[in-house]
Amino acid sequence: MEKTRPDGIDLTEWDFWARPLDERHAAFRTLRYLPRPAFFREPELSFVPAGPGYYALTTHADVVEASRRPADFCSGQGAININDMPADLGEYFGSMINMDDPRHAKIRRIVSRAFSPRMIQRFEDQVQAVAEQVVEEVLAKGGGDFVTDVAARLPLKIICDLMGIDEAHYKTVFDNSNIILAGADTEFVSEEADQVALQLLEAGQTLKDLVEELGRRRRGEPTGDLTSALVNANIDGESLTDQELGSFFILLVVAGNETTRNAIAHGLHLLTRYPEQRELIASDFERYVPGAVEEIVRYASPVIWMRRTATRDTELNGHEFTAGDKLLLYYWSANRDETVFTDPDVFDITRDPNPHVGFGGPGPHFCLGAHLARREITVMFRELFRRAPGVRATGEPDRLLSNFINGIKHLPYAI
Ligand code: HEM
Repeated sequence: MEKTRPDGIDLTEWDFWARPLDERHAAFRTLRYLPRPAFFREPELSFVPAGPGYYALTTHADVVEASRRPADFCSGQGAININDMPADLGEYFGSMINMDDPRHAKIRRIVSRAFSPRMIQRFEDQVQAVAEQVVEEVLAKGGGDFVTDVAARLPLKIICDLMGIDEAHYKTVFDNSNIILAGADTEFVSEEADQVALQLLEAGQTLKDLVEELGRRRRGEPTGDLTSALVNANIDGESLTDQELGSFFILLVVAGNETTRNAIAHGLHLLTRYPEQRELIASDFERYVPGAVEEIVRYASPVIWMRRTATRDTELNGHEFTAGDKLLLYYWSANRDETVFTDPDVFDITRDPNPHVGFGGPGPHFCLGAHLARREITVMFRELFRRAPGVRATGEPDRLLSNFINGIKHLPYAI
């Protein structure tokens, strides 16, 4: 397929991701109306050579179709990185999100089995208890940074508790997951690309050491946590090895923690910016909250893209791809596709249907934590609106400089 890039849009430049949101959305709108997916060069990184480049899939139809065909568009050559990564990074960041069947199916099966009804009940009770505690502290404090006071706390505690990580390690988990998803944001990582690679490796190693040590203990003496369920054989005699446990934990921390944190922070920002939507949800919380959660995930799209690689010469919705072509599935563009969503730039909690792809498209990698994430967002806002009904953002979000995570680093709030 012809490799074209429209003038004035370069998704590989950090400058693009520093532009105001509406300009970025306008650029993606332009990309959606091109006759074929645009092609971009890969980032120049010091520790890996730049590969041949990538196509940007920006329409809802293309993102859904690529997700649906894992045999033609695979994840195993990298789903969360544009450049192919060296093997030593793969060791840390190579969990199931970067795998294809049958390895992917095996790990997903072990993890899914570990989420027994008892485990699910346990974390649902825990979500409620933690949200209550967070709101208690918010009431005492009266305001501050919504991300550190509220949005970051619930997902972090839930993931750690689920895995059996002690409270003494929360800060280690928080700081290292910030580094892993820092993009080019110098609040968390160095300006020097060489340093960033080292920081990433160190963060991965720290998290891996933490959970492997725990895994060793749980292998001998299982408790009721997820780590025990993962390292001890299940009914099919399957369990995770140390290496699989380490990279799964990093995936869980990264996929389950930061994403939900950002969804909650975007939620407060959006419900402040659109007061009529805020009034609507306040008028009948239980009725409107399911739609509000889906609309927050659509509108914010906390995960901007995932990558796939063509496994053979093939066609997708009339576009021809060659074996080895890299495709970035831009969820946040698909979620604004005006051929699917009426007035996509309007935040509307009553939107129905809302076939967003914020948790990924239909396929084997669809977000494993979607149920938990929906639950966390719902319970957090229920507790906030019940006990601090005046809670609101009092300024603009301080946004993460990243092309991958639509992150909010800080958000001032008051009650
Ligand atoms: C609003 C919050 C969340 C968003 C927006 C989100 C988004 C996503 C996306 C886009 C994918 C990739 C889908 C694909 O490649 O087709 C994914 C996969 C995944 N997510 Fe989530 N996620 C969220 C919360 C969570 C939570 C709370 C957990 C943990 C319990 C979690 C665990 C995972 C895992 C393990 C995968 C990989 C699944 C696989 O490869 O089979 N996510 N998520």
